[in-house]
Amino acid sequence: MAINWFPGHMHKARKEIKKVMPQMDLIIEVLDARIPFSSENPLVPALRQNTPVIKVLNKRDLADPAVTAQWQASLERDKGVRAITLDHQHRDEAMAILKLAREMTAHRNLERSALRVMILGIPNVGKSTLINTLAGRTIAKTGNEPAVTRAQQIIKLPDNVLLYDTPGFLWPKLSPEACGYRLAVTGAIRAAVIEFDDVALFAAEYLLQAYPEALRDRYDLDPLPADGLGVMDAIAARRNFYGRGGVPDLHKVAEVLLNELRAGKLGRISLETPAMVAREAQQALAGSPQA
Ligand code: G4P
Repeated sequence: MAINWFPGHMHKARKEIKKVMPQMDLIIEVLDARIPFSSENPLVPALRQNTPVIKVLNKRDLADPAVTAQWQASLERDKGVRAITLDHQHRDEAMAILKLAREMTAHRNLERSALRVMILGIPNVGKSTLINTLAGRTIAKTGNEPAVTRAQQIIKLPDNVLLYDTPGFLWPKLSPEACGYRLAVTGAIRAAVIEFDDVALFAAEYLLQAYPEALRDRYDLDPLPADGLGVMDAIAARRNFYGRGGVPDLHKVAEVLLNELRAGKLGRISLETPAMVAREAQQALAGSPQA
């Protein structure tokens, strides 16, 4: 099943958000802590004006804590933005978001009236899980696919907060190209959109450069191969993944590598850092090819 990003559908979603956002007191944007830049919705900075934003770096249990701290500091440089980290095991910390929302809007004298909060997040980021925690009950999902898309729903939360949920639509932050790959590594973009084996190769190359120890430990690779393809071949050898004629079954390797990475079996891994993203933006500006 592929995530659809038909231009018509995107246009409709953009129009809807543009209409609703000015009526909001605050925005909660749920990000994947492993890819805070690639999972960001570009419409938020474009359309929020002065509306305060809480960026929730979710699934922090899967991300590298040192890199997540860098992201928090980097995101909070934007005026009116607070960045917090979260994982689905910590209900108390999720509930503290509502208190923070009140604090961030206190200057607007909204204490006695309902606080209107919009929540956004790409599919699979954990938005529904968070909403259910905040609401204390299971709320029907807004659709992630055009066929089941329902308009936004409004959910009553404690402390007189009204949560405006938008469909978990994937904004195609596919530029620079690496963003698309990182979204695919986390599982936010399905294999039908980007070739599965290519995604695994991207992951192998990144891990080799950023987390060589994790690769070495998980797959017993000593010495480490020189490149991503070498890593995939070596994993095939370690796990005995061979097809007919003794050819390494790289598709099987891709499946195992991505599944294990997504499940946190290689440890806590972040797929992008603020410095990397800044470098890529500079390269894009200079028109030079990206790494
Ligand atoms: P969405 O509404 O944004 O599409 O996401 P949803 O809440 O449905 O969560 C997507 C998947 O991410 C679910 O797993 C959920 O359990 C998992 N998840 C949510 N928050 C966290 C978190 O903080 N850490 C980790 N590690 N995972 C989280 P699933 O495999 O699709 O479903 P299930 O097997 O858990 O039922």
